[in-house]
Amino acid sequence: MSVKPRKPGRKAGDAHAEFLDGLLDSTRLVIYLKDLDGRYLYVNRRYELLSGAPRAVILGKRDHDLFPKAVADLFREQDALVVSNRKALEFEETIPLPGGVLSFITEKFPLLDEKGAVYATGGFCTEITAQKKRAEEELFKIRSLESLGFLAGGIAHDFNNHVTGIMGNLDLLGREAELAGDAREMLDDAVKICAKAGALAHQLRTFADGGTPVRRVFALGPLLRGAPRLVLQGSRVRDEVDAPRGLWAVHADETQISQVLGNLLVNAREAMPAGGTVSIRAENHVLAEPTADLKPGRYVRITVRDDGPGIPAAILSRIFDPYFSSKERGSGLGLSIVHSVVRRHGGHVWAESVAGRGALFTFLLPAADGKPPRRAGKRRPRP
Ligand SMILES: Nc1ncnc2c1ncn2[C@@H]1O[C@H](COP(=O)(O)OP(=O)(O)OP(=O)(O)O)[C@@H](O)[C@H]1O
Ligand SMILES: [Mg+2]
Repeated sequence: MSVKPRKPGRKAGDAHAEFLDGLLDSTRLVIYLKDLDGRYLYVNRRYELLSGAPRAVILGKRDHDLFPKAVADLFREQDALVVSNRKALEFEETIPLPGGVLSFITEKFPLLDEKGAVYATGGFCTEITAQKKRAEEELFKIRSLESLGFLAGGIAHDFNNHVTGIMGNLDLLGREAELAGDAREMLDDAVKICAKAGALAHQLRTFADGGTPVRRVFALGPLLRGAPRLVLQGSRVRDEVDAPRGLWAVHADETQISQVLGNLLVNAREAMPAGGTVSIRAENHVLAEPTADLKPGRYVRITVRDDGPGIPAAILSRIFDPYFSSKERGSGLGLSIVHSVVRRHGGHVWAESVAGRGALFTFLLPAADGKPPRRAGKRRPRP
């Protein structure tokens, strides 16, 4: 399809051109054509809107008449590349415009005449400002959680050594026969508190380094079907699990992934004390674009959704922070462990929520290359 610049005095009844104009002016894409000198031959309505100038002013002008020199120089360099390569190329651009600084993914392409000579260049620009901002915030979050993990790991290690020292001494003290009733009670309390402190150090270390993951290739289905039984038993929360056949296997630490699921399910249970439903779904997912610093490729996507009160927007950006809790008795480590375990497995986790409509946690785990080995012991012996 050839796209002709709008010509003044076009014959009435040129329905095809009218149709094209309508199409080009309705899209959110910014579209333009320039001649080889860089003079604008065509811009669509979106271009007018974002540049703040009417078409009549832009046509015939060059980038250097419209943009700061550095930006215009870059545009001209890109045009030259498209002309010399004689094919479409993609660029990411950040451009100061009257409405603010906007980012675009732009496909620039050459227009060829019948003899194959380039006579113009054009561009289709997709605005990505909001996505870029979200991706930058996500990366910032990942980096901050990583450095927190590093700090927490160091503290937890020393803390655990001290707790072990105190425990040893309390143990020796407990063997003293002549310890009187009150003193023994106090000693028992001290032992209990030490045990709690030890458990806390253990949790902190799971957040910080998770212990060395013991990875193997396994199918997620049985783990996803088994987890709710452990956590939801005795509660009024019902579960629905959908893990289809043909789900790709993962190469992961089964215990750690169980813990991820367990922590998400405990939160769902705690969010719905009067009962409700938690749905777990898994599906194969091909990531086409790098997302939250994950490489494109094959992943298994797991979602855990509840129909509790949801997570207020004001705290949504903090729920993965260690020690962030809105619960009276929460330690605030559950989700930070989820985040760090998933990241250590080369995946990522997101939370979404609409107040009053429940919470949704989504995590991606890289798919393993092969199939999971059959579990030993399940094969029937030959007759
Ligand atoms: N399913 C959910 N529904 C509503 N809020 C949630 C949900 N999951 C997490 N949250 C919010 O995120 C906060 C942090 O969760 P996280 O699991 O890290 O800590 P916690 O549950 O408070 O304590 P811990 O898990 O250490 O016992 C919670 O206190 C709660 O405010
Ligand atoms: Mg929790």
